[in-house]
Amino acid sequence: MCGIVGYVGEKQALSVVVDGLRRLEYRGYDSAGVAVVSDGSLETRKKAGKLANLESLLGEDPLPQSTIGIGHTRWATHGGPTDANAHPHVSEDGKVAVIHNGIIENFAELRAELSSRGVTLRSETDTEVVAHLLAETLPSTNMNLAEAMRIVCRQLSGAFTLVAVHCDVPDVVVGARRNSPLVVGRGDGENFLASDVAAFIAHTRHAVELGQDQVVELRSESITVTDFDGQPAPTVEYEVTWDASAAEKGGYETFMAKEIAEQPKAVADTLLGRVDAQGQLKLDEMRLSEEQLREIDKVVVIACGTAYHAGMVAKYALEHWTRVPCEVELASEFRYRDPVVGPRTLVVAISQSGETMDTLMAMRYAREQGAKVLAICNTQGSTIPRESDAVLYTHAGPEVAVASTKAFLTQIVATFLVSLYVAQVRQTMSQADIDAVVRELSDMPGKVDLVLDTTEEMKALADELKDSRSVLFIGRHVGFPVALEGALKLKELAYMHAEGFAAGELKHGPIALLEDGLPVIVVVPPPGGGAIVHEKIVSNIQEVRARGARTIVIAEEGDDAVIPYADHLIRVPACPALLQPLVATVPLQVFAAAMSAAKGHDVDQPRNLAKSVTVE
Ligand code: G6P
Repeated sequence: MCGIVGYVGEKQALSVVVDGLRRLEYRGYDSAGVAVVSDGSLETRKKAGKLANLESLLGEDPLPQSTIGIGHTRWATHGGPTDANAHPHVSEDGKVAVIHNGIIENFAELRAELSSRGVTLRSETDTEVVAHLLAETLPSTNMNLAEAMRIVCRQLSGAFTLVAVHCDVPDVVVGARRNSPLVVGRGDGENFLASDVAAFIAHTRHAVELGQDQVVELRSESITVTDFDGQPAPTVEYEVTWDASAAEKGGYETFMAKEIAEQPKAVADTLLGRVDAQGQLKLDEMRLSEEQLREIDKVVVIACGTAYHAGMVAKYALEHWTRVPCEVELASEFRYRDPVVGPRTLVVAISQSGETMDTLMAMRYAREQGAKVLAICNTQGSTIPRESDAVLYTHAGPEVAVASTKAFLTQIVATFLVSLYVAQVRQTMSQADIDAVVRELSDMPGKVDLVLDTTEEMKALADELKDSRSVLFIGRHVGFPVALEGALKLKELAYMHAEGFAAGELKHGPIALLEDGLPVIVVVPPPGGGAIVHEKIVSNIQEVRARGARTIVIAEEGDDAVIPYADHLIRVPACPALLQPLVATVPLQVFAAAMSAAKGHDVDQPRNLAKSVTVE
């Protein structure tokens, strides 16, 4: 959601910035723009639609050569995705350009004040006020753009990452950060600012985290960080562990196809180093003491979207292994309903990006109530793990496609590791039982690899079903969140009606949706995982088939009980019931991506969606 890039150095700023924006495209956007400072003047170009539109505008109306520039991809909030609302926004005197991610909540008030001072606003955005305020403020600061930014930030409320350049201060890019992400890239004689490291990873792997309410002044040879009052602020530097090629398609047609194929490795990497030679789980990096884990009387998982489904899977395992009660809640609901959390609650915040605003706000709220927060996150240095008491990183590598795939599998693995660790500490499982699950988990990369063999089958099925009006997904036990995830993927990618249900709930309403030929995808739990659950779902398959539905059954190798009722049978490798989501989800991901491609949609960047939702 909104991509930000800033550059100062010796290279051609425009190409660095546009290349950075391309690497941030996955975040989701609907217009794009750039600004450069050259020979004491500021020039901008911006255009609604994809980057290609901006690039053709730049072809028709080129920008002058410059070594300082900023760029933005906008995901519309205030004002539609038009050329005028695209960023950068420029002050009336044409000297300052501003880009922004977030929502300035008091913008209406600021707009009215600016209008009363005779300023003409040219867009419907909340961002434009900042350009005018900076232009008004700069002269009073002895032309210190960072100081002007600090003064302006103190007048703003809401969430904002702002980046600005001014043609009278031609060697400086200034950034400010409250809530929305912003990271600095430290180069050699050049420096970068971006929403995430993907934008500059081709140039440098040295990153500097910016904290809450900080302003950064970037010159080619220096990076100066202060708080909003101008006091020097501590920063944390780190090396990005992956390189540019990890964030490229590597021969695959889409990022999503690549990320689906990377899942065996992502699962293996997430397990790596977390079990010692004696088979004991080692999660020291988590920073929660054994004593703290013994004191917990409740776990609350908060997350959004796909991460929420991973949390639902976690609940089954955590309660089974640790006997600690577990609630799973959508972050956007949690915070606004006066939830019961306190010092003995462990809140687990799951987030691939570590920047989802709803999850961030919910975890902050939980911490205010005294709860301990453990983040399960894929993005080093992002806000959610930084503000948590503890963190366990998933090692999925960069996930670029908007629809989450490898993050989901690794989030499940990480929550399982945490659950087993809690069981080890609280001795709710014998060491032998823990060892057995750990062994089963280490077999999973191989099984995920095997299930990728269903890819062609799922593509053929998608081709057959692409004109369906609707697809239903049903499951029981951990197959229920898998059904929800399958339906979510199809909505996201194929823009079609899809719903996931707990199969037991069918008779309480959803069964009325059934009609001749309606595809119903059934996630069948392994017969070995609980004979009753398996039997019940076999009955559910018969119920939907009896009402004309076309059944697509996902069942493990050797489960013959489903054969008579399956119009299509998709086989997944046998594994313990709790671990089945790691294989059963994969064909559903492939199916959704294939449906999207068959309908001619953009698989990696579905309409209206953002990879990282940084507004509430
Ligand atoms: C967005 C993405 C989803 C993702 C959700 C949570 O909606 O499009 O794919 O599951 O945010 O994101 P997070 O980064 O917190 O896991």
